[in-house]
Amino acid sequence: MNRKLAYSLVSLVIALSMLLTACGPTTSGNEVEVFSWWTGGGEAAGLDAMIKVFKAENPNITFNNAAVAGGAGTNARAVLASRLQAGDPPDSWQGHAGQELIGTYVKDDKIEPLNFLYEQEGWLNVMPKTLIPLISENGNIYSVPVNIHRANVLWYNPKILSDNGIAVPTTLDEWFAAMDKLQAAGITPLALGEQWTKLHLLETVLLASLGPDKYNGLWDGSTDWGSPEVTTALENFKKVLTYANSDSASLSWQDASQLVINGNAAFNVMGDWAAGYFIELGKTANVDYGWAPVPGTGGVFQFLSDSFVLAKGAPHRDAAIAWLKVAGSKAGQEAFNPVKGSICARTDCDKALFGEYLQSAMDDWSTNIVVGSLTHGVVANDSWKSEIDTALGAFVGSQDVAAFQSALVAACKSSGPCK
Ligand code: GAL
Repeated sequence: MNRKLAYSLVSLVIALSMLLTACGPTTSGNEVEVFSWWTGGGEAAGLDAMIKVFKAENPNITFNNAAVAGGAGTNARAVLASRLQAGDPPDSWQGHAGQELIGTYVKDDKIEPLNFLYEQEGWLNVMPKTLIPLISENGNIYSVPVNIHRANVLWYNPKILSDNGIAVPTTLDEWFAAMDKLQAAGITPLALGEQWTKLHLLETVLLASLGPDKYNGLWDGSTDWGSPEVTTALENFKKVLTYANSDSASLSWQDASQLVINGNAAFNVMGDWAAGYFIELGKTANVDYGWAPVPGTGGVFQFLSDSFVLAKGAPHRDAAIAWLKVAGSKAGQEAFNPVKGSICARTDCDKALFGEYLQSAMDDWSTNIVVGSLTHGVVANDSWKSEIDTALGAFVGSQDVAAFQSALVAACKSSGPCK
């Protein structure tokens, strides 16, 4: 081989290896693993919209979507708990603002404070003042809220109601009368799904029966779980269950919402992620579906907030911070929320980007009395919530209100503020 040829070959090898380094597979420093349970209808689409913004802003970081299927995170949260226990955290995960965040991840020292990001990004000026205490402990802010969801929404099929001469109910009694009428006409009054959707229904019936002050009192110990008014609330809940489809245990929340959309049931109580699902299904607001506050909860917004955290010991800390910046940004939230069926946590999003339902939710969020959701992490820590959930599971089988109520009293004593 002559020297000229050898020289050219060496140059070629160097050039090729430079090219491979530039275009080759990303190194482990160049990825971010983000954990949630947004795989289902409406939910994945919302996340994808935010990932798109992330990719445009961070073309060199591979987004590893570690979502685990299952509404309300029932499966995902179990997977997350075992990963955290094994010291194998995802870089960032979805944790609800409130007791889920503070009573679990902060308490167990699993996440980093994010005050530096709030300062850098000016988020204190654009995040609601009411939300900051729910994601803070001892002056440290621990998560980045991406949205506000509403739990106490009654979805209905407008045609079924008008065909049966039923006005949208505003009180529990009106709701019961409407459901009696539907039942007599051979129509399933209420679509219901798996266990967590029953917990979700329970929290809205507690709110409807007790009103916002006494509902709040359940969580700070000032409302007695053993009182006659809680008995009445549980009796109401028992009655509501009698109007539901019998195969609820095997239905996801999407299945249950679909019963309403497809004209197989009149009502469904579900958070407004259902609005995201209806958009994905190509349905039209006020034609294919209508909405109202759960009867008895008008003027009250039972809220929850999805927020993202930074794992302590995140394997890809810088990339995780890049993700959190997008999650807290106007562009990220404006891409995510109109699709997810939620309103922005930020106060400066453009209202025109949102559909009819979400515009009404924005108005309600700014004018209603705000209370927190149980099922989605705001008002009770994980152990209390899980004791309530176990008591509910037993009640669904036994229908024994007295036994249910004493289990709820015991749960507040063992894991809540009751003495
Ligand atoms: C909630 C979550 C919502 C939605 C819902 C149904 O816990 O906050 O964003 O995903 O579960 O899966």
